Amino acid sequence: MMLARSLTRRLHCFAPRIATALPKREYGTSGHSREEYSSEKETHFGYESVSEEQKAQKVHGVFENVASNYDLMNDLMSGGIHRVWKDYFVSRIQPRADIKLLDVAGGTGDIAFRIIQHILLTDGGEKSVISSTKRSNADGRSELGQEANDRPLPYEITVCDISQSMLDVGQNRAEELGYKGISWICGDAQKLPFPDDEFDCYTIAFGIRNVVDIEKALDEAYRVLRPGGRIMCLEFSHVKNPLVKWVYDQYSFNIIPAMGQVVAGDWKSYQYLVESIRRFPDQESFKEMIEYAGFRCATYENLNLGIAAIHSGFKI
Ligand SMILES: C[S@@+](CC[C@H](N)C(=O)[O-])C[C@H]1O[C@@H](n2cnc3c(N)ncnc32)[C@H](O)[C@@H]1O
Repeated sequence: MMLARSLTRRLHCFAPRIATALPKREYGTSGHSREEYSSEKETHFGYESVSEEQKAQKVHGVFENVASNYDLMNDLMSGGIHRVWKDYFVSRIQPRADIKLLDVAGGTGDIAFRIIQHILLTDGGEKSVISSTKRSNADGRSELGQEANDRPLPYEITVCDISQSMLDVGQNRAEELGYKGISWICGDAQKLPFPDDEFDCYTIAFGIRNVVDIEKALDEAYRVLRPGGRIMCLEFSHVKNPLVKWVYDQYSFNIIPAMGQVVAGDWKSYQYLVESIRRFPDQESFKEMIEYAGFRCATYENLNLGIAAIHSGFKI
């Protein structure tokens, strides 16, 4: 039934091209084929050619390895900019009260925590509670007081990630920081353990480039969203300006793996992170992939000249 629905959706969106498009589709101006991003057999782990199974194992290994240092390394590698991007990402989502949101590849909970803060501080009907109980902790985030915790929660948030170690770090942080009511589920973006038409919003931040078959993940996003629901993706992207690109490449390839070695004793994992960014489709190509999965009104917005981008689409 899923296959039929997926085909119908694709026929609907790409009726004139469907006969030739499905087996090997090309996305965007980069000329990358569908097989490059979601091959049946061979794929990429950074710049290395590996089988899909090997990639899945290696990616899993990377995040199991980096979990305990993940938040510190994010701050060091990006000079804290990832926080600004994530804040902006959540402000673009504009989560309203009573939202049912799924954060896939949610790792240590950065997006989920921000969504909760946003709802409670803007649209949650809890303003009085928060304003009287909000405190800042050393992490620069607000702590939600006991009074807020006792009230019914104006949101349903699920964080899903393939790495239990990342989820464990996230759950501990949620307890420390006082974020209640998040469901932490270990699962694969390519085969989500949720029913059809379940969520209002699907978010994925710095996660989708790690997934072996991006198309499958997008199909799954489409499946679990209810009609009218929205996919929002924050991911590293491609810089066009040659000078900025050169500086960015020098920093990424020379400094980041070295930083990973010094701070976390792990050069390879951080080298993979950099290479995986370069292998991810460019803005236009990824927008086409989102459309191909059946989403409408697909758009994107560059952050910091394209170092990262926010993609959005609706299941209509
Ligand atoms: C760079 S981290 C991003 C974490 C978090 N979203 C953030 O922005 O800080 C990428 C995450 O993707 C997860 N991941 C990789 N492949 C996945 C898959 N197939 N399904 C679900 N999660 C996956 C990793 O375990 C890791 O936690």
